[in-house]
Amino acid sequence: MRPVVIAACLLLLAPITDSWWASGSAVILDPRMICKKNRRARGRLAQICRNETGLLKEISRGVTLGATECAHQFRNRRWNCTTQRRSMRKILIRDTRETGFVNAITAAGVTYAITRACTAGSLLECSCEKGTPKPRRGRGSSVTVPPPTVPSDRWQWGGCSDNVRFGLKKSREFMDSRYRKRSDIKTMIKLHNHNAGRLVIKNNMRVECKCHGLSGSCTLRTCWLRMPTFRQIGDKLRDKFEGAVKVISSNDGDSFMPESPTIKRPGKKDIIYSEESPDFCSPNLKTGSLGTYGRQCNISSAGTDSCDQLCCRRGYKHTTVKETENCNCQFKWCCEVICETCNVRRDIQTCL
Ligand SMILES: *[C@@H]1O[C@H](CO)[C@@H](O)[C@H](O)[C@H]1NC(C)=O
Ligand SMILES: *[C@@H]1O[C@H](CO)[C@@H](O)[C@H](O)[C@H]1NC(C)=O
Ligand SMILES: *[C@@H]1O[C@H](CO)[C@@H](O)[C@H](O)[C@H]1NC(C)=O
Repeated sequence: MRPVVIAACLLLLAPITDSWWASGSAVILDPRMICKKNRRARGRLAQICRNETGLLKEISRGVTLGATECAHQFRNRRWNCTTQRRSMRKILIRDTRETGFVNAITAAGVTYAITRACTAGSLLECSCEKGTPKPRRGRGSSVTVPPPTVPSDRWQWGGCSDNVRFGLKKSREFMDSRYRKRSDIKTMIKLHNHNAGRLVIKNNMRVECKCHGLSGSCTLRTCWLRMPTFRQIGDKLRDKFEGAVKVISSNDGDSFMPESPTIKRPGKKDIIYSEESPDFCSPNLKTGSLGTYGRQCNISSAGTDSCDQLCCRRGYKHTTVKETENCNCQFKWCCEVICETCNVRRDIQTCL
């Protein structure tokens, strides 16, 4: 049950109405906006828009899930996947590695939310997979089996497996179908990154088991397939962001290749991009950079949140802030913890 609980917490932290992507302006990833813009379209996208309100709601949730995870993964960096709409719009019309990450994690979020809803039984169109999961089609993909430490006569498939196929399909229909007829490099990159995001889920399904038998003796287990947690998906995509590959259009015009011949061709799971990122040091309306003035940095860190890096060597100032915290806590028989409230001073550093 853990992934569900974690994901539910993420959702609580980010109410749908507060999400920049899911709000009313002409943001590319607002599901309702996509439907409005494609009113006259036919095909699967139009069908989802007209007829599948439950699905649309899950798509919105998925977009928010992706957005929240993006902000978490980038909280310590100059570009922090900000919730500011105008900035995000600029990020999304470019083609930098940040664009690639946002597209990948959004596609993953949509797949995740739909799949979770299927398992929870809250969508009419789908349900979880009972019994033995069907092997997936396609090269190199097979259902992972439970740990080989358990003899095969001691476990069996059962329960309710996450049926990721439906989520993958709907995510493709909703996010990709309107680009099918285009083959410019930006579109190819976008579709590639959507797919990279979905693959993280598809390739990281894991097996969960429950023990049966007298007082948990575990003489028999039933096992089912679960998606990874969304945090795990975010972590993996963040690795892909770090190793993202810059590509250029090939001579034939309908594929891409690495910019430099010494780099290996990006695989399906890699995030790709075609434009260099700005340094995100100062505000720039054109790139969507908000700058790092006023951001809190960490003087004891050597990473991206160090004052040197986060403040772009402009320097930083010290401030002492007063905070209250629980202190002198005592355990009172039985069963209460009683604390006092203390004032503490904390030094923080913010970028100039
Ligand atoms: C709408 O959905 C219902 C139930 O899923 C289906 O029977 C019907 O054909 C759909 N209508 C359209 C126009 O897609
Ligand atoms: C993200 O960066 C923006 C711009 O520098 C800043 O206003 C905002 O507070 C940051 N968000 C977080 C959660 O640090
Ligand atoms: C600052 O960085 C250090 C070293 O990476 C870390 O242990 C500490 O938790 C960070 N402090 C804050 C407030 O993030």
